[in-house]
Amino acid sequence: MAFTNPRSCLLAGLAMTVLTKADDFQETSDNDCDCFVTNGTNAHYFTNHKFYDFRSLSEYANVPEPINDPQDSSNAPLASDYFKQSPWSDSWGIQAWDNSVNLQEGEAKLLMVNSASNVYIGKNKDPDPASDTFLTLRTMRHDEFQSAAEFESIPCSYHFLSARIYARTVGAKGAIAAMFTYRKSDDPNLIQEADLEIRTIDPPDTIQYTNQPSYSRTGDAVSQATQNATVPRSWEEWSVHRVDWNPKTTTWYVDGQNVSQIGFQTPRDPAQVIFNMWSEGTAWTGNMTRGDAAYMQIQWIELLYNSTGDATTNSNSNVRHAVGTRLARRKDDACNKVCSVDESHKIGTAVLVVSDASSTMRVYSPLGFAAAFLIMLFAMV
Ligand SMILES: *[C@@H]1O[C@H](CO)[C@@H](O)[C@H](O)[C@H]1NC(C)=O
Ligand SMILES: *[C@@H]1O[C@H](CO)[C@@H](O)[C@H](O)[C@H]1NC(C)=O
Ligand SMILES: *[C@@H]1O[C@H](CO)[C@@H](O)[C@H](O)[C@H]1NC(C)=O
Ligand SMILES: *[C@@H]1O[C@H](CO)[C@@H](O)[C@H](O)[C@H]1NC(C)=O
Ligand SMILES: *[C@@H]1O[C@H](CO)[C@@H](O)[C@H](O)[C@H]1NC(C)=O
Repeated sequence: MAFTNPRSCLLAGLAMTVLTKADDFQETSDNDCDCFVTNGTNAHYFTNHKFYDFRSLSEYANVPEPINDPQDSSNAPLASDYFKQSPWSDSWGIQAWDNSVNLQEGEAKLLMVNSASNVYIGKNKDPDPASDTFLTLRTMRHDEFQSAAEFESIPCSYHFLSARIYARTVGAKGAIAAMFTYRKSDDPNLIQEADLEIRTIDPPDTIQYTNQPSYSRTGDAVSQATQNATVPRSWEEWSVHRVDWNPKTTTWYVDGQNVSQIGFQTPRDPAQVIFNMWSEGTAWTGNMTRGDAAYMQIQWIELLYNSTGDATTNSNSNVRHAVGTRLARRKDDACNKVCSVDESHKIGTAVLVVSDASSTMRVYSPLGFAAAFLIMLFAMV
């Protein structure tokens, strides 16, 4: 590359601030990142990054005994001190509500009770385990009811995100493992959700993805709202499940592969993030055999997100649900230092991919990033 005129000289200078070889990206602390860019053809920028790591928590490992009484199940204590302290307790609320209302209305076929005894840290007993421990959500069929597991984000202010988990779902047929965004409405037709649902009665290479609601007011299925996708790796095996909830589309990935994208009724308004493992004996969830159980196991959760800063309570729960905390919005929207978790070799740690965007572009948008990238490539030819 020859510096023949001032223009290409300038551009060559830009190239050095914009991009170095992927292997050279420098690990950095989140405090040194103004924003985080996601990868893929529908890249977006987010101001916040959180990483919840359940891989080395041996001191908190405790698998609670199943509780066969619905009331005791609902009243169960937290499984370990891990759930009483930061970062967990600032971010997630373990649920204890039950579905008795749905049951009365005939929508559920079986009493389901969420129990703190079903959310716990367990030892990884895999041969050649990739971690010491992982987080487990358990659902179990008791004589008279189904106990279930759910935790909801305390903030209700997530406004677009890229959420990733390293997880697997194992156990009996008749349960649903889910990761979803949720915006409550008293009108079921105005609920907004971007759902990943694994039905354990389904083949292990299919996952259901939906921008809710998937039923119209007249009860008809809305086919554009949902996809039963074939995935490249069995959900029984450890894999990275990712949802990118963006302003125009929701896209889901398994191990980095785009498996489903839905543009129809993409959730618009701020939402919570919820994980659960449940069943209520219906055709949708399946009917688990008495004494059986199924588990969603999670080694880590990583969130890239924006927040409206207005954490209105929109939870569907009433028990042990902490009041939403106000998330501080950055005063300065400028993104000079752009980071990525996708380009990082260390899970949970960001790398700096653009060290000084102000010298290369004024526009803080993926388009600006792409443009700078193209200009730079052009300059290098
Ligand atoms: C994901 O795949 C769908 C279907 O092939 C495609 O329409 C969409 O553009 C892809 N999205 C991304 C972000 O790659
Ligand atoms: C997140 O917020 C930043 C700063 O306001 C904005 O530039 C970016 O486009 C937002 N991302 C999404 C996906 O809306
Ligand atoms: C998804 O597709 C699989 C394979 O065809 C099928 O067995 C399963 O019942 C489907 N699931 C739903 C919810 O339609
Ligand atoms: C995006 O990053 C993930 C890791 O977070 C990787 O698995 C995937 O292959 C990347 N996708 C593209 C299109 O580079
Ligand atoms: C599931 O089993 C319960 C009793 O064990 C029964 O009441 C219910 O109707 C069953 N549901 C389905 C969908 O078969």
